[in-house]
Amino acid sequence: MCFLAESKINRIVFLSTVTDSFPKRHKGPSLTSPQRPTMRLASGHVAVQLHGEELTKIQKDFKGFGKGLVRLTPGGWLLPAPYTKFADKIYNTEFRASDVVIMTYPKCGTTWTQEVVWTMRNNPNFNHPKAGIPVKARSPFVDSDMLAHLGKDVLNSELLELVKDIVPHPDPDEGLALQLTANIPDPRTIKTHLPFSLMTPNLLDTAKVIYVARNPKDVVLSFHHHSRLMKSMSYVGSLDQYVDYFINDQLIYGPYWEHLREAWPRRDHPNMHFVFYEDMKADPMAELRKLNQFLGTDLTEEQLEKIAHYTSFEEMKRRDDFYREKEMQRLDQEVSKKDGGFFRKGEAGSWKGHLTDTQEAKINAWTKDNSQKLGITFRYSL
Ligand code: A3P
Repeated sequence: MCFLAESKINRIVFLSTVTDSFPKRHKGPSLTSPQRPTMRLASGHVAVQLHGEELTKIQKDFKGFGKGLVRLTPGGWLLPAPYTKFADKIYNTEFRASDVVIMTYPKCGTTWTQEVVWTMRNNPNFNHPKAGIPVKARSPFVDSDMLAHLGKDVLNSELLELVKDIVPHPDPDEGLALQLTANIPDPRTIKTHLPFSLMTPNLLDTAKVIYVARNPKDVVLSFHHHSRLMKSMSYVGSLDQYVDYFINDQLIYGPYWEHLREAWPRRDHPNMHFVFYEDMKADPMAELRKLNQFLGTDLTEEQLEKIAHYTSFEEMKRRDDFYREKEMQRLDQEVSKKDGGFFRKGEAGSWKGHLTDTQEAKINAWTKDNSQKLGITFRYSL
């Protein structure tokens, strides 16, 4: 039996016990203790606080997750605990016909695609007065407030500085990214790492969605670097352990295959554009032409050529280095100096020479089964 109580603040329903079981594909430790705190979200998911051995292990390796994590049923989505504070607001976010949502599992080329799409729609002639501000202030990351609320207020203070000209009365407690999303001018280009099931159900009927996918070997390497670099995550474990976290669906925003499984079957929807990181790398102009058609931007070949150059890895890294000086607070300096910053390699196939044979074999076995079931094929190098 469940006892329900309604929170006045965010209308999340708390359940004192939970009988839901997790999907069979989740391979982490059992989560069936009756004491664990749970919440029912507007999306219909039940969020359960991670506890016991699994939480202790993750918190030992990810020093940034001191506030805990939740896993959602159905789907098995793993998210930082502050997600529950913003979940319903994100789910209830209304989209417009002129919106473009860039949806990705982390490290699949989100920032690159945001810059391409924002530039195509807002700055095709490179004369937009706001083009120089960091992409996150022009193209909000709608579900990032949970990351800013992990404990260190660095993300919030940085975003507060960037949004103060756009949001009339910014209030970090209410979620700066959500307020930025609501206040940026049309046409909006919005980033999310959440899957379809955690966004409004009419998303594709209202707005355009660009889903970017990347091969799992480059994703795990890139995410490992990111998790060490970002103080909000502060990963201190090994790459070996990280690969295990990945294939056991124990990294935030996962399960990786479930994320793809929600997007891939929607790829032929007229408002959906599915793109692979590797294809953008192999032939950026071919992908920009497809985007030109999908977005209805009607840009000339010459404009597209210039945008391809402006959004190349080297150019974006160069511009980011300039801003990064101000943002250093949220990065681990040692990792950044030794292994690179956010713009690490920008290649398809950089996993080669980094993943050991054993790590690669584990990912191969995991991928074979899942990619066959889904009917999706990745390129692992160019
Ligand atoms: P690497 O760590 O492999 O270098 P996201 O924006 O989703 O977090 O993805 C980040 C990954 O995309 C990083 O991969 C980053 O270097 C790469 N990236 C960023 N901008 C890029 C660009 N213009 N061209 C190619 N790759 C880019």
